[in-house]
Amino acid sequence: MKNEIKVFCPATIANISCGFDVLGVALDNVGDEMVVKKTSKKGITITKIEGQNLPLQTHKNVAGVAGLALLSASDYEGGFEIEIYKKIKAGSGIGSSAASSTGAVCAMNKLLGEPFSNLELVQFAMKGEELASGVQHADNVAPAIYGGFTLVRSYSPLDIIKINTPKKLYATVIHPQIEIKTSDSRKILKTTISLADGIKQWGNVGGLIAGLYTEDYDLISRSLEDHIIEPIRSILIPAFDNVKSASLNAGALGCGISGSGPSIYALSKGKETAEKVAQAMQNIYNKVGIPYDIHVSTVNTEGIKTIS
Ligand code: HSE
Repeated sequence: MKNEIKVFCPATIANISCGFDVLGVALDNVGDEMVVKKTSKKGITITKIEGQNLPLQTHKNVAGVAGLALLSASDYEGGFEIEIYKKIKAGSGIGSSAASSTGAVCAMNKLLGEPFSNLELVQFAMKGEELASGVQHADNVAPAIYGGFTLVRSYSPLDIIKINTPKKLYATVIHPQIEIKTSDSRKILKTTISLADGIKQWGNVGGLIAGLYTEDYDLISRSLEDHIIEPIRSILIPAFDNVKSASLNAGALGCGISGSGPSIYALSKGKETAEKVAQAMQNIYNKVGIPYDIHVSTVNTEGIKTIS
């Protein structure tokens, strides 16, 4: 069995418009890397973080907290050292904390001979999400671990379903370089919804799942709507409405807030359209004057990948 492993930890788009806290998808072209080593010393030691200014103390780091949750459920008597190479910025809305917490637990599980199921790994990684946002949401960590699209059908008991990925689906993500903390963007949400909004939202969740399984791109397009969260959170994102209408005009199937923002995502059929959407998003943001990163990616159907 290996003593050291290097993994790719994918970025993820949570919510996918209609599925607040229940839907998510993993990306191929954006993600962190992490090196995890077995040590005879007990516990988790974070030895290096490159690319971001994040705490090295185990209890203050999402990878550390998720790793400790795994260790406490394991009969392994040693510990682990972790090096984190961050490419996903914290507060970006594309699952930065989820990449770190899932990378840690998946790498450790591999080094221990895979004693834990994906569902258990999600439960450990959710402890990292709790540290980052105050809430144990699973809609970023589930796709990072299972790959592809995932649905959290239930939180209690935890029930996660991996959903089919249509072959021609591409994601475009623009990440304006401002930070929105998930904890802050959750505080502004209402805690109740109207029956009328609920009816629209669960109609769209069902439609999106059916569209993903049947690879019906028109149905996917009709279902990428959010009547509950987007109207409130979009106020925090400069030029959101312009980016959305420019993306739809460029041919996107749908466009919305990625996770808790500020990143904005679009789904498209085919790479060519996804690249046109990227250009349309950039045209808007070049006028806004806020620096941004832009990504066009296929869906990562595998989740955390072993690099070496
Ligand atoms: N479902 C979470 C939220 C995702 O929207 O707050 C955070 O990335």
